[in-house]
Amino acid sequence: MTQIVTPRLRLRHARPDDLAALHVVLSDPRATRCWSTPPHGSLEETQLWLDGMIAGNAAGSDDFVIERDGVVIGKAGFWRLPDVGYILHPDHWGQGLASEAVGAVVDHVFTARPVDALSADVDPDNAASIRLLERLSFVRTGSAERTWNVGGEWKDSLYFGLRREAWAGRLNSAS
Ligand SMILES: CC(C)(COP(=O)(O)OP(=O)(O)OC[C@H]1O[C@@H](n2cnc3c(N)ncnc32)[C@H](O)[C@@H]1OP(=O)(O)O)[C@@H](O)C(=O)NCCC(=O)NCCS
Repeated sequence: MTQIVTPRLRLRHARPDDLAALHVVLSDPRATRCWSTPPHGSLEETQLWLDGMIAGNAAGSDDFVIERDGVVIGKAGFWRLPDVGYILHPDHWGQGLASEAVGAVVDHVFTARPVDALSADVDPDNAASIRLLERLSFVRTGSAERTWNVGGEWKDSLYFGLRREAWAGRLNSAS
């Protein structure tokens, strides 16, 4: 099984026993403020979500739970290429951990898959996510209104993309 180790994190494929830890993340209204669903109201809802993640990985997707010191604190990766998705429990925000995790899955997927470009769909109110993507060299590619209906409220989207050449250029300028 693929796993990715970064200085502070281990990213691995999800397992059935990740249910409780992922529910803690996905039921937190702070974490889901700009997410595609309202906070999970039951373990059953998280179970369905986790089943989808496990099935996706079995079918070859590159989606990972994020472990810090052996505890699952979120997820990062590609349930369906080329769209990246990530979420961390708020206790772990503001320490560069999402940048570390998302940077690692981006490097992994460009290295392991013949994909030309990656994409992201972000709520315009999600300043942290926008900043994270820009730091990883994603650029804005477009926008659309009323793209997601989350719990009865319409949300807009900003679209971002990262082309393989830009990713490679970032790696070269870092070395
Ligand atoms: C988006 C999210 C993953 C960021 O996690 P994080 O670990 O706090 O991110 P990082 O610490 O790596 O910070 C990324 C960048 O955003 C900046 N940032 C963090 N919080 C910010 C905020 N509230 N406002 C503006 N910028 C912010 C950081 O300073 C950093 O930029 P820098 O490298 O120039 O300093 C986290 O807030 C989260 O899980 N949110 C809920 C789920 C979500 O919105 N997912 C994305 C859906 S598109």
